[in-house]
Amino acid sequence: MQKTQEYILKNKDRFLDELFELLRIPSISADPKHKDDLLKTAEWLKLKMESAGVDFARIDPTAGYPIVYAEKMIDPKLPTILVYGHYDVQPADPLELWDSPAFEPVIKKTKIHPEGAIFARGACDDKGQMFSHLKAFEAMVACDELPCNVKFMIEGEEEVGSENLGIYVKENKEKLKADVILISDTGIIANDIPSLTVGLRGLSYMEVHVTGPNRDLHSGLYGGAVANPINILCQMIASLTDENNHITIPGFYDKVLELSKEDRAEMAKAPFSQEAFNKSIAIPKESGEKGFTTPERTSIRPTLDVNGIWGGYTGDGAKTVLPSQAHAKISMRLVPHQNSVEISKLFENHFKSIAPDTVSVKVVPMHGGEGTVVPTNFPAYIAATKALEKSFGKKPIPVRSGGSIPIVALFEEVLGLKSILMGFGLDSDAIHSPNENFGLFNFYKGIESIPYFYDEFQKIKK
Ligand code: BES
Ligand code: MN
Ligand code: MN
Repeated sequence: MQKTQEYILKNKDRFLDELFELLRIPSISADPKHKDDLLKTAEWLKLKMESAGVDFARIDPTAGYPIVYAEKMIDPKLPTILVYGHYDVQPADPLELWDSPAFEPVIKKTKIHPEGAIFARGACDDKGQMFSHLKAFEAMVACDELPCNVKFMIEGEEEVGSENLGIYVKENKEKLKADVILISDTGIIANDIPSLTVGLRGLSYMEVHVTGPNRDLHSGLYGGAVANPINILCQMIASLTDENNHITIPGFYDKVLELSKEDRAEMAKAPFSQEAFNKSIAIPKESGEKGFTTPERTSIRPTLDVNGIWGGYTGDGAKTVLPSQAHAKISMRLVPHQNSVEISKLFENHFKSIAPDTVSVKVVPMHGGEGTVVPTNFPAYIAATKALEKSFGKKPIPVRSGGSIPIVALFEEVLGLKSILMGFGLDSDAIHSPNENFGLFNFYKGIESIPYFYDEFQKIKK
């Protein structure tokens, strides 16, 4: 991979210019106004794949946004890597909290990234990381050092639940045959502490609506005699967790895989500073389920969080109103072996059962998905370990992440394929937040590491 690495170094500025082009397209999948931007991004990727040297690239339509699919099959006897990533991004709101516009990428130096970081929505999640794969591939092809067959499957609906990709995968099992799935959509512990993600949490996402009177009321004329839906919603939400931050939904923990003492001790070896954690997000003190550490709370334990709550009057000044309705979005992160459909049902039943008879309550499940655990003793994982050891000069630590990529569990279920979660982001990259950024170090380290993975994987599969 010598020539490939030299090619990468020689072309690094162009790679960055191209990534900037990609980051300028506001491909926000949650907002239908951006439909054309998503289609434009798919076209852009197809062209880039073609010029990088794939046999063919196409834009496969779905009921939603298309999937960009490409292949390079050099020899049926060689192993095949299926690269997955997503070209859609989260909304940039709240816009006023960005120091520079979300879709006008710029490089700025930061404390964590003294060499500079790319600031833009999608810089890390997932355009920067996904694009690293195209550039690593381009380099290997250009240098005649590609050691494996490659399939690219880049979707445009990851941030809204990957529903159509699920259908696509089920319909294209034959086409998607591979030896492993390779994904860069997660992170490492720190730039000098490489890690590989060996777990993702599942997710159940719900919307709840509480309705009281048939119209907003004068809170003087009616207040005190009519149940206020916002007050009620707050009481209901408050009752979903107890004083130990345990979730009170009956049956919620029934299937949770409890880790052994040994496994927890192993986890505790990964470097973590509570003080640095608190400082990094400016909280006075951490909080969570009693009996568990912060790394455990964010990986091996399920959670329930209100993502948004609205109703009544929220404009300027004061308005004395007793609102007709209150609403909230509530999500639960799940761990092995909780099932998202079951948990959504448990939530719905429980939430309705705690509703007082003074209001009516509607519960709408939004989307969900299952968690994953990646074993650490199969060839692709060992190849990934060796690859990162080469690029970072240090063995990567296996870490379970708290985030979710629901399609990973589906890949295993439908294709029988395990995924290597070889991401290069940092928790401080502010993904989904204002000022999302991705270190130049991280962008280039990804491009450097990927060819090593191909190489090690091919060797280990021989
Ligand atoms: N790339 C993230 C997930 C992630 C980030 C996992 C960092 C591990 C470390 C992905 O794009 C994402 O945001 N997933 C959503 C779920 C999806 C169904 C909306 C999430 O985790 O909230
Ligand atoms: Mn992502
Ligand atoms: Mn995301």
